[in-house]
Amino acid sequence: MEFNVDEIRKDFPILHTKNMGKDLIYLDSAATSQKPIQVINAIMEYYKTYNANIHRGLYDISVKATEGYTNSKEKVAKFINAQSYREILYCKNTTEAINLVALTWAEQNLKEGDGILLTQMEHHSNIVPWQILSKKKRLVLEYAKVENGVINMDDYKKKLENAPKLVSFTHVSNVLGSINNVKEMTKLAHTEGAMVHIDGAQSVPHMKVNVKDIGCDFFSFSSHKMLGPAGIGVLYGKDEILEELEPIIGGGDMIRSVDFEKCTWNELPWKFEAGTSNIEGGIGLGKAIEYIEGIGIDNIRKHEIELVRHAIGKLEKVEGVAVYGPELGKDKIEGRAGVISFNIHGAHPHDVATIFNSEGIAIRAGHHCAMPLVNKVLNEPAVARMSFYLYTKKEEIDKAVDTIEKVKKVLRIKKHR
Ligand code: ALA
Repeated sequence: MEFNVDEIRKDFPILHTKNMGKDLIYLDSAATSQKPIQVINAIMEYYKTYNANIHRGLYDISVKATEGYTNSKEKVAKFINAQSYREILYCKNTTEAINLVALTWAEQNLKEGDGILLTQMEHHSNIVPWQILSKKKRLVLEYAKVENGVINMDDYKKKLENAPKLVSFTHVSNVLGSINNVKEMTKLAHTEGAMVHIDGAQSVPHMKVNVKDIGCDFFSFSSHKMLGPAGIGVLYGKDEILEELEPIIGGGDMIRSVDFEKCTWNELPWKFEAGTSNIEGGIGLGKAIEYIEGIGIDNIRKHEIELVRHAIGKLEKVEGVAVYGPELGKDKIEGRAGVISFNIHGAHPHDVATIFNSEGIAIRAGHHCAMPLVNKVLNEPAVARMSFYLYTKKEEIDKAVDTIEKVKKVLRIKKHR
């Protein structure tokens, strides 16, 4: 199918609404994506015509709900090339998925003095769970350095020599937009005997991800950033690893049998999903994947590369603007995802976002849940960020870049460095 952004936009009702009386320009898809009508309708149809609990009822609408939920896991498994849906655990979001790795595999396998290697470009969700666990079990946390917007691979290799038991890193930085060579990083970590978890929150919605090819042990991502509903996320784990783990949340649905003294666990993936699941979330996520596959994930990636090329080209011409991220040059723009953080000299990013809002433009400003990266590596209190998706138009980026001049005028910024 030919990629046509105007046609795609017709599927997104919110893109035809106003913000501050102006046409909404939504440039915050890294925070959450907008939802196509197909996903909204799939959730509505579930509630209107087959709302029932799953795995419990012997009546038709319950069977249909169970099928919808299980089919969505099959779609997820196929989408990321997992072996089967046994490897797909649903949880709340990427954050909860990472916490699940910390509270199951890491809790059950690590002991005092063991090391965990992260990188300096991690989101708080890939730092805080490890800090909590480290405090409890007296583990040693290290961070591979980030320089010029990318992971310093020499430092990464050097820190791997300390033989960490687990390495956990992001696929795509939500601040820098850098795309890490996760296959190479996984191979290096495995050579040193470490387990590997990858935070794919910013990659799975935007580019082809093949977990088998990458070779990682765990991989996490969220539905709400990939056109699906909020409140549902995915933890992929290799079957043989999940099979060995003890569940941490007990209750209905995750058991095979229960007696007054003991119980046995259900098979994968249900062993990790106690209680009533987010049924409509699963159904919505399945529909979102169907939608992405209809457009083609490679087409989405191509579109975003063009958007980044366009945006960087425009921003480079604006006086007093600093753009963060990999120093790749326009010819190597493929190393960046559709995330561009920037600052306007003399303007606080919160003021920038407020003035953008007055023009109908939604961007995010702040530390982006990556305080160590923003404060210590970029050495900034905060940054402004535009992020794109399949429905973003070049004209919207032009409007955003033009608004930078308005920011300078409103804040009376005259000369730039
Ligand atoms: N992690 C999301 C972001 O980067 C919320 O905005």
